[in-house]
Amino acid sequence: MTKRVAILISGGGSNMVSLVESMTGDHPARACLVMANSENAGGLAKASALGMDTDFVDHRPFKGDRAAFEEVLHDRILQAQPDIVCLAGFMRVLTEGFVSKWQGRMLNIHPSLLPKYRGLHTHARALEAGDAYHGCTVHEVTPELDDGPILGQARVPVLEDDTPEVLAARVLEQEHKLYPAVLRRFAEGDRTPVKIGF
Ligand code: GRF
Repeated sequence: MTKRVAILISGGGSNMVSLVESMTGDHPARACLVMANSENAGGLAKASALGMDTDFVDHRPFKGDRAAFEEVLHDRILQAQPDIVCLAGFMRVLTEGFVSKWQGRMLNIHPSLLPKYRGLHTHARALEAGDAYHGCTVHEVTPELDDGPILGQARVPVLEDDTPEVLAARVLEQEHKLYPAVLRRFAEGDRTPVKIGF
């Protein structure tokens, strides 16, 4: 049975595009919805151009009431009946209440080699620390931020003249390979971690 995948975005959606484009042919899953937390998320137009159903729930009118925002978000996602939810550059921190409804079938991509550098500004922090390597991680989402079981990692070298922007671009290239590879395995029921560049 082909698995249905809902993808949540906040911005440009380059990871969303790589996921949608990977789900073709004998892939065990198909994207069924691209959802954003803002009407202005650049990725919504890209998703429509790929023939995806799109939707958005603006978090701002909820004035910080995360549970109320998430209730509407949850109901909208449910309408698409996904088996798997992929967070792809979705920048709202989800509460335990929401996560517990999707636990074991919700993935996230984070631009660091977790457990290093949970949270924001991962590229600048890796440069400040003088790390030789950096990268990205796909993990299952649990109530703890950027903490769930790791399903894949891609590693890149940190180069002498790197700025956070240059390093971010090198990592993003790997994100576009790692997330589709992990999703394919996950949709087949295989949680063996994917490793790229190790
Ligand atoms: C990616 O680097 C992702 O790891 C992070 O936000 C960025 C989103 O990029 N969470 P995009 O919207 O998928 O292009």
